[in-house]
Amino acid sequence: MLDDLRREVEVCGRCGLADSRTRVVFGSGNPKADLMLVGEAPGYHEDREGEPFVGAAGQLLSRLLEDIGLSRGDIYIGNVLKCPPPENRNPSRLEIETCKPYLLRQIEMISPKIVGSLGNFATRVLTGKGTGITALRGKPMQVGSFFVLPMFHPAAALHRGDLRSAVEEDFRTLKEILEADLALEPRHEQMNLF
Ligand code: URA
Repeated sequence: MLDDLRREVEVCGRCGLADSRTRVVFGSGNPKADLMLVGEAPGYHEDREGEPFVGAAGQLLSRLLEDIGLSRGDIYIGNVLKCPPPENRNPSRLEIETCKPYLLRQIEMISPKIVGSLGNFATRVLTGKGTGITALRGKPMQVGSFFVLPMFHPAAALHRGDLRSAVEEDFRTLKEILEADLALEPRHEQMNLF
């Protein structure tokens, strides 16, 4: 099923990014993972390789996962956008809205317990909250049948060395939440994403 969706996204022409991409970056990892991480959009290296998080931020992401005893193959990694915005610019509102149904279907198929939303864009898309990541990070929110943990994007630590310990802290929180196996609360305020 996920492969059917991959094939569909690989030929997507719904927005202008289709003209400038080299390859669609659908996502990778364990399709039955309990944990999914969602970043913003592929960059230059991801566009060349067709894999998410293979550049500098991706190398840091692999180390942060190792630090909490996980490897990339244990989890599923994806992005809000499947194609890179030119010059590494921010995704536009239209691009996000156009690509979002793919992410939601991906999450539905993988059915993770926890989705770590990396940075402002993924957090806004998955929680509907416009509040910046600094205020939201570290507090899990139930969204339908899974929890979203807003986290700093690993790239934040590459741009600002003083954020490195906060980025590491978010990964430790992620591990604690995975181990705590949070119970879904049916009466909890829920966002209807699907
Ligand atoms: N690489 C990705 O795949 N996503 C990001 O958000 C950043 C780098």
